[in-house]
Amino acid sequence: MINVGVIGLGMMGNTHLDVYGARDDVNVAAVADIDRDRLSGKAKAGGNIEGQAQGGADLSAARRYDEGMRLIADPDVDVVDICLWTHLHAAFARAAIEAGKHVLVEKPLAPQGAEAFALARLAERSDKVVMPAMCMRFWPGWDWLKAAIDEQRYGKVRAAHFRRVTSHPGGEFYLNGDQCGGAILDLHVHDTDFIQWCFGPPARVLSRGYDKLTNRIDHVVTSYHYKSDHAPAIVTAEGGWAYQEGFGFEMQFTVNFDDATAVFDLAGDPVLRLIRAGETEPVKLAEGMGYQHEIDYFLGCVVGGKKPQRVTVRDAAVSVAIVEAEARSVREGGPVKPELA
Ligand SMILES: NC(=O)c1ccc[n+]([C@@H]2O[C@H](COP(=O)([O-])OP(=O)(O)OC[C@H]3O[C@@H](n4cnc5c(N)ncnc54)[C@H](O)[C@@H]3O)[C@@H](O)[C@H]2O)c1
Repeated sequence: MINVGVIGLGMMGNTHLDVYGARDDVNVAAVADIDRDRLSGKAKAGGNIEGQAQGGADLSAARRYDEGMRLIADPDVDVVDICLWTHLHAAFARAAIEAGKHVLVEKPLAPQGAEAFALARLAERSDKVVMPAMCMRFWPGWDWLKAAIDEQRYGKVRAAHFRRVTSHPGGEFYLNGDQCGGAILDLHVHDTDFIQWCFGPPARVLSRGYDKLTNRIDHVVTSYHYKSDHAPAIVTAEGGWAYQEGFGFEMQFTVNFDDATAVFDLAGDPVLRLIRAGETEPVKLAEGMGYQHEIDYFLGCVVGGKKPQRVTVRDAAVSVAIVEAEARSVREGGPVKPELA
């Protein structure tokens, strides 16, 4: 049995509990939340994707802590899963690593690149499994795209566009720019991370954006510039939560290869389609959400005693640094080189 402790019983804590609850080799040994109603199960957070955040694990025997650090000190917890607010990620991950636990930490790794890189250095010295929850690297359809790019299945990528836009999720944390980092860090980082996974860190970014609901950037459009001839000529991503209430949640990509165009739309039917020479074919995807595949991969590393390859803490730190460059580009109005410490 893998003894897991989940810190933070909000939307993501409940999403992770769904995955643990579906496995028969996981015992959710402990949970923690400073909100007493969430800790007792009286109050539950909802998800932004249908079927998400049901909190589907049996917690009847779980120890309940009213502070996350107390869970980290529990000797019977082997894996600490950090689903806290962003500004707390690095401090709790650091404490859990120092306590000798395996750690899964939600994205984004930290509000600032410097803090994120310091955590990456610590994680690299740990003999335990430490993984950031960059879920798009595990999302059905997005993993298909990464493989198609790597294999050059349809030739070279000429242009890649990513889009993730919604109305504001609400709640104090997501309105507090110092804690959540605005949409540019909280939401758009998913696409920044996926882009650097597919094409590497860009040489420069050129971004436009605005603030509306937080004191950070709530809607951004970025053009990622590469020097290499192998990189696509055009890579862009749009991310924002400044749309009017009722807009819903849109998650999309359009990628133009030499010999095919791939279109993903979370709300589409089919979700992923491939257009070639006048024909459109649906692409069959694995069941489930990226969260499930991500946690299955993480637990596979824990059980197999292997360091994660698909995503590292350093990768997540690089994504924070690229987002920082994007924010600077919005402020300064010109292209910015990411500082990859
Ligand atoms: N991977 C994804 O797709 C994805 C999606 C949404 C959110 N997130 C990230 O997950 C994190 C959490 O987001 P959320 O929407 O679940 O937030 P949330 O507010 O719903 O949940 C966070 C919980 O942490 C609790 N908490 C705060 N301080 C604590 C402490 N010291 N000890 C114990 N509990 C404490 C809060 O009471 C709250 O219940 C954020 O960093 C967010 O960016 C990731």
